[in-house]
Amino acid sequence: MSSETVEQEIREGPVRTVCVPLGDRTYDVLIGPALLVQSAELISSRLGPVKCVVVTDENVARCHLGTLEAALKAAGMHAGSIVLKPGESTKSFRELEPLSERLLELGLERGDVVVALGGGVIGDLAGFAAAILRRGVRFVQIPTSLLAQVDSSVGGKTGIDTPQGKNLVGAFHQPSLVIADTDVLRTLPEREMRAGYAEVVKYGLLGDAPFFDWLEQNWKAVFAFEAEPLTHAIETSVKAKAQIVGRDEMEHGDRALLNLGHTFGHALEAWCGYSDRLLHGEAISIGMSQAFRFSEALGLCARGEGDHVVAHWRIVGLPTRISDIPGDKPDVDGLMKLMAQDKKVQKGKLTFILVRGIGQAFVARDVPPEQVRDFLEAEITT
Ligand SMILES: NC(=O)c1ccc[n+]([C@@H]2O[C@H](COP(=O)([O-])OP(=O)(O)OC[C@H]3O[C@@H](n4cnc5c(N)ncnc54)[C@H](O)[C@@H]3O)[C@@H](O)[C@H]2O)c1
Repeated sequence: MSSETVEQEIREGPVRTVCVPLGDRTYDVLIGPALLVQSAELISSRLGPVKCVVVTDENVARCHLGTLEAALKAAGMHAGSIVLKPGESTKSFRELEPLSERLLELGLERGDVVVALGGGVIGDLAGFAAAILRRGVRFVQIPTSLLAQVDSSVGGKTGIDTPQGKNLVGAFHQPSLVIADTDVLRTLPEREMRAGYAEVVKYGLLGDAPFFDWLEQNWKAVFAFEAEPLTHAIETSVKAKAQIVGRDEMEHGDRALLNLGHTFGHALEAWCGYSDRLLHGEAISIGMSQAFRFSEALGLCARGEGDHVVAHWRIVGLPTRISDIPGDKPDVDGLMKLMAQDKKVQKGKLTFILVRGIGQAFVARDVPPEQVRDFLEAEITT
């Protein structure tokens, strides 16, 4: 199929294009079914017939690497594939070093492209490798988890975890293109689909109450992979993120809104050792529930809003309380210490994203630690 035909089908078919407006680094996010088989044309029509090295993980490789490799090989664009172990622990210095060396061994040059095929772990790690290799090579995101399609593949945050916390080493490096094929989500484990859905709901909660209403009505169709509702949910999420990133790429201001639920959530994730005990999306589902309860406790938000939100998490099957996490309970000191590692801490003061209601999040700086401590004491015992 010629690139003109593909582009025409994209314009006319169910495929949506969302632009992330960043001057000379502006790029498109393509969303819709059956995009993976067209990936070579989609890449070459924007970046030229470039040499691509694919980075993926074993789970994704089993389901989707063959399709991508066949498309790139047919176009003479495949320079190799690197398959890593799945899981958060792959986002580490330990894996970054051999990955960088392997990319260089495969002959990756300045004009070539790293293609990240996978969830947020692969996108963050491969994106960071692309940011530092030869002082920066281009990369294309092909996100395969719902979380990656609606969040991590867009906006250019790349990085790895360290024992001190999540994402503490990294770089802003925007992709040149994002290809979100909704069909690949069908092989995603159900628990991962639910965890990614937490990020979709986040966009409703932080700034778009009608979208939250829509999700309350349509969540079953989204989980049933119905093409139109699924594409709409992803497109609405990506548009919201693209707008915020376009205004505040480096998170000096309202990009922080995207962290609704993350200050609490990251601390819980770190306390669980970034393990399967608590997935990122599950952690922020609890974190967003806490942001609503904390806002209510501070008198910022009407009582009952939190219950409304929690009811939706519950019906979908997401956790909303610390007691929903299997195993032992955290202690307040431990959680406070983990929150102090948050990148939003400035001069020791905690920054939270709080809410005045559904769809009305705001950045609250200088939240007194004593109030956080009292709130957490109550949360841990409930
Ligand atoms: N860069 C950002 O802006 C940003 C934003 C949010 C989250 N993140 C990061 O994203 C990561 C979480 O991403 P995630 O939830 O995608 O986790 P992940 O990459 O670990 O993927 C989840 C699991 O699903 C598997 N998988 C992915 N796609 C699949 C598919 N189509 N079929 C079958 N299996 C599939 C993976 O192998 C993995 O086991 C965290 O490290 C988080 O810090 C980054």
